[in-house]
Amino acid sequence: MVRVVVCVSGGGTNLQAILDGVADGSIRQTQIVGVISNNPGVMALTRAEKAGVPGYAICPADYADREAFHQALLDKLAELSPDLIVLAGFLVRIPEEMIRRYERRILNIHPSLIPSYCGVGYYGLKVHEGCLARGSKITGATVHFVDAGMDSGPILLQKAVEVHPDDTPKILQRRVMEEAEWVLLPKAIDAFACGNIDWIDGKPWIREN
Ligand code: GAR
Repeated sequence: MVRVVVCVSGGGTNLQAILDGVADGSIRQTQIVGVISNNPGVMALTRAEKAGVPGYAICPADYADREAFHQALLDKLAELSPDLIVLAGFLVRIPEEMIRRYERRILNIHPSLIPSYCGVGYYGLKVHEGCLARGSKITGATVHFVDAGMDSGPILLQKAVEVHPDDTPKILQRRVMEEAEWVLLPKAIDAFACGNIDWIDGKPWIREN
């Protein structure tokens, strides 16, 4: 079984899609060994508890400085010993040491078609606000491996979603989640866990089986 830790910050609907996928067998070879949140009391931790998965709140405010927070995060990860870390709406910058230690083993979901509406300042609802302000007709979601940059790591999966004329940021966010995010993230984890990812010229491709 592949040991997976999911990092979250809020609602945890992507976490729920993962938990459901493991429960119904569509995500194979996978055990969710822990959920880490940088915010206490969030719905994502309730979802973990309901699924019988240990949840941990590691909050920057509880530590003297950023370095101490990063160390606490690294220590918890070391304890959980994951094969794969999934950033499912984890809205904090992760430590460089974590990126080094888990190279090609951290996946992030971003709610746009990277390289559109990504990088500094584009997270959560802000991504959809940017998309509507620009008048894009197509958006979507991306699952990528994490590197040292912001939303710059190797792209694994993308799915397009239509923008409608009467969309609000919240309506568009929901459509992107339903049509793209909750489909892509479980698929990416299943592919990783089943060893179905080939790296070709530094780029990951899913081998369908
Ligand atoms: C999701 O839309 C995810 O793609 C986004 O935060 C939301 C979390 O929702 N992540 C980012 O913007 C990362 N840059 P959730 O807690 O309901 O899964």
